[in-house]
Amino acid sequence: MDQSISPAKRLEGSVLLPGDKSVSHRYAIISALAEGASKLHNYSTGADCESTLNCMRALGAVWKKEGNVVEMQGWGLDGLRQPAETLDAGNSGSTIRMLSGVLAAQTFTSSIEGDESLSKRPMERIMKPLREMGANIEAHDGKYPPLTIHGGPLRAIDYTLPVASAQVKSCVLLAGLFTEGETTVRESIATRDHTELALTDFGAEVTTRKGVITLEGRPRLKGRELLIPGDISSSAFFLVAACIVPGSRITIRAVGLNPTRTALIDFLVAMGAKIRVLDVQQVGHELIGNLEVTGGTITGGVIDGATTAALIDEIPVLAVLGAKSENGLVVRDASELRVKETDRIATVVENFQRMGVKVEAGPDGFSVPGRQTFKAAELDSFGDHRIAMAFSVAALAAEGDCTLQNAEAASVSYPEFYNTLQALRV
Ligand code: S3P
Repeated sequence: MDQSISPAKRLEGSVLLPGDKSVSHRYAIISALAEGASKLHNYSTGADCESTLNCMRALGAVWKKEGNVVEMQGWGLDGLRQPAETLDAGNSGSTIRMLSGVLAAQTFTSSIEGDESLSKRPMERIMKPLREMGANIEAHDGKYPPLTIHGGPLRAIDYTLPVASAQVKSCVLLAGLFTEGETTVRESIATRDHTELALTDFGAEVTTRKGVITLEGRPRLKGRELLIPGDISSSAFFLVAACIVPGSRITIRAVGLNPTRTALIDFLVAMGAKIRVLDVQQVGHELIGNLEVTGGTITGGVIDGATTAALIDEIPVLAVLGAKSENGLVVRDASELRVKETDRIATVVENFQRMGVKVEAGPDGFSVPGRQTFKAAELDSFGDHRIAMAFSVAALAAEGDCTLQNAEAASVSYPEFYNTLQALRV
């Protein structure tokens, strides 16, 4: 689908985001492993989280979805059954990586595959710790999906993450549920902790101290009723849009404010964005609140080290902000961008070049000077949801009308994105 996007004069209004993608995946997987009924409010409307739900159904969980509310019946830790067909993770790295931890511990063999993009994404990062736990996994070319997982008994391990990845941490913790004893994961760079919080919500014993996470095996997980906060990663598109379209004022309601995700707000405020955080409340173990953004003079900045890991999903849209800032943006230590839904260094650079925006790329980052003009251009998502939305935002500040090819990719995390963006135009 081609989407035509014209420049915006001003953006104003209020946004209610879809449920957080990371939290939705985790609640769906854990609900299926819990005993009894769970009710998940504001479940993500994105295709990725639908992939997780469909995998859980194929594994025996019973669920129904009305609007954004998912009701799921789980059968306990030992209640999954062998799927009749290959599980389909679609475009979702979180689904395949996290679910593999569960599949490795089953009494049956299963296979899990994904779309063209997912089929090129690295899986050794989960195969290595799972094999240490005793798992038997085969992968295409030894490292890519589809995966065939011969389930069996696993042992608890003490694992130090070689890459900062919440998906890998979660995979090991989910596998650890099925072991006797204590599973430990050590991370030197903090990553999102939704799995730890969700497992605690459902009744597991998880402790975190100075980057060391421990989980007691074989907990009795109980079904829960939980509200999923709005997706803070999706809020980034509106926060940046308000910063680059002068005179804008946007309120984003009921957004997740988990401290392992709010580096985005800290970074934008440090760049000069005027953001107010209001009405913060706790829901389950997660935080939720409202954001009010009124633009501001954006200075520029550097993203590196632990900040890169904390902002990894937001970097494409922050690059757009960087090109409109006073001093530009430098991104380093970001080789992980090359193995996301697309090579996001390459797809950011390609779209910038089409808009006549100067950018210099290296193996693990890029640098974009500030105060640049965006020419009207034919842009492309290259099938990547975050590239689709980042460059829709760029188009708002272009000199003329842009066309975005493969715009439907946004529905992987945010099917309502274009309508919401349209409704904010004054
Ligand atoms: C996610 C973790 C991150 C992130 C992805 C979602 C999660 O991936 O980029 O969009 O839900 O755990 P990595 O674990 O590969 O860093």
